[in-house]
Amino acid sequence: MNSWLDRCHFGDCRELMRQMPAAIADACITDPPYGDTSLVWDRQCDGWVEEMARVLKPTCSLWVFGSMRFVASLFGEMERAGFKYAQDIVWEKQNGSGFHADRFRRVHEHSIQFYRGAWADVFKEPQYTNDARAKVVRRKTRPTHTGHINAGHYISEDGGPRLVRSVIYSPNEHGNAFHPTQKPLAILAPLVSYSVPPQGVVIDPFMGSGSTGIAARQLGRHYIGCENDPKSMEAQAERQRQSGLELLCA
Ligand SMILES: C[S@@+](CC[C@H](N)C(=O)[O-])C[C@H]1O[C@@H](n2cnc3c(N)ncnc32)[C@H](O)[C@@H]1O
Repeated sequence: MNSWLDRCHFGDCRELMRQMPAAIADACITDPPYGDTSLVWDRQCDGWVEEMARVLKPTCSLWVFGSMRFVASLFGEMERAGFKYAQDIVWEKQNGSGFHADRFRRVHEHSIQFYRGAWADVFKEPQYTNDARAKVVRRKTRPTHTGHINAGHYISEDGGPRLVRSVIYSPNEHGNAFHPTQKPLAILAPLVSYSVPPQGVVIDPFMGSGSTGIAARQLGRHYIGCENDPKSMEAQAERQRQSGLELLCA
């Protein structure tokens, strides 16, 4: 089992997953080709969900990035493989990848969480920020006949933690990216922390430049990656060389 862990394996993810032990991973966080464009690398990969259903534990999370069109096309397959919809988050970027001049400028992407098993048993670690502002709030006025004239009308409430919002802003990494569709660590890190238990295993069958693996390693989780494009494998190696980040390739 350890030979699968903390490595990106070269090849077609469906073939690779067929060789992996069943129930090896706690969660999947992935960004497949969406099939939205005519670009050579943007071809949908049929059948990966079925293979993923075998390598994930019976109770697990599966996060998929994608356009609305792509994700909608996945729902039937997810249901057949036993996965249910849980929630979605939006990655808001500073500028978009607008393909159409006659539509809104698209500056976001979705990531959808599916789960299997009882929701109460699915690992989840709600994420908080500490940026709630301290504020003075006005209490409901009590009638004067109660003797509380103006008493306790204003109270000070501390700031403190609040749940991370489902719309997360992070600039895209164009310019510094190693892969044309690289996802920022600022988006992947909360998903890893939320859905993968410490020391647990996250699998990304479409690893690209290795973003899920890097976020996993930084957060003390194991990862398994797959990638079938030699150029993306090179991008992982280059990313590792430039940043000193530890990513092993097999
Ligand atoms: C959208 S990109 C992922 C980018 C990644 N999230 C990152 O941050 O770098 C999808 C990747 O899946 C790879 N891919 C496509 N089909 C595949 C398959 N059948 N098996 C393994 N990898 C595949 C592509 O080469 C591409 O690098």
